[in-house]
Amino acid sequence: MDGIHGSTAIVTGGGSGIGREAALRFGDEGANVVVADVDVEGSEETVERIRDAGGEATVVATDVSDPDEVEAMVDTAVDTYGSLDFAFNNAGIEGESEPAGEHPLDNWEQVIDVNLKGVFLAMRYEIPAMLESGGGSIVNTSSIAGLVAFPNLSPYVASKHGVIGLTKTAAVEYSGEGIRVNAISPGVIDTPMVARSQEDDPETMEATKAATPIGRLGQPEEIGDAAVWLCSEDASFVTGETLTIDGGYVAQ
Ligand code: NAI
Repeated sequence: MDGIHGSTAIVTGGGSGIGREAALRFGDEGANVVVADVDVEGSEETVERIRDAGGEATVVATDVSDPDEVEAMVDTAVDTYGSLDFAFNNAGIEGESEPAGEHPLDNWEQVIDVNLKGVFLAMRYEIPAMLESGGGSIVNTSSIAGLVAFPNLSPYVASKHGVIGLTKTAAVEYSGEGIRVNAISPGVIDTPMVARSQEDDPETMEATKAATPIGRLGQPEEIGDAAVWLCSEDASFVTGETLTIDGGYVAQ
């Protein structure tokens, strides 16, 4: 993909699932990859795999809901590699499954803090660094839950709808200054998050899987590849867009 080689890319949630596969793809394409996650062990495994494949990567322990840690993540990227060109703001949590009228208040706060505030904070610090670097591209992870309702998951659904709003707003604000901003809305992807969701809310998960026209789960690399493509020059006129990659789920 054009424009990735020699660049610097941050991937939040790069220690597992979709983020890991995106980080590996950035590495394959010749980017310096900053793997940011609360899960340091998982991040180290991702970095090791990038290095084993001949790429360059570093871990930054980051809680995306903490402004100081997010600022430090961006500073580390710039200090280590000299610029920041791309970011895949992908860290997220599923939270608990309860209907809105019974939903635990602390779970609401936790999910919004990581999934929505975390994406805002990432862009808040990445955008100035990208402007300094002469432009860039940001991809935020939403979900099909950012497009339609899923029962029992009100904070998750609200956070993922919010990510699309944040993405459109930043795209309108910064596309004229050389920063494209897009979102990806994955359907059900075969990652540790889905394995946990399956345990927490088997009925919703089974119904979602059964209603996926393509007849299978997505694979994390099918999302990771799209994130790198959206950052690349191959997507040079794409901004403010939400790319739904869901095996046809929301087309129905
Ligand atoms: P995962 O659970 O495999 O990976 C998520 C990563 O985010 C983990 O490494 C975790 O440690 C990290 N993380 C969690 N909280 C964090 C925090 N506060 N700061 C930094 N890192 C944190 O999950 P998966 O499936 O790879 O999810 C990635 C993203 O894709 C999430 O935003 C999720 O909501 C979204 N998504 C996933 C779908 C799926 O079916 N797997 C469907 C639609 C969206």
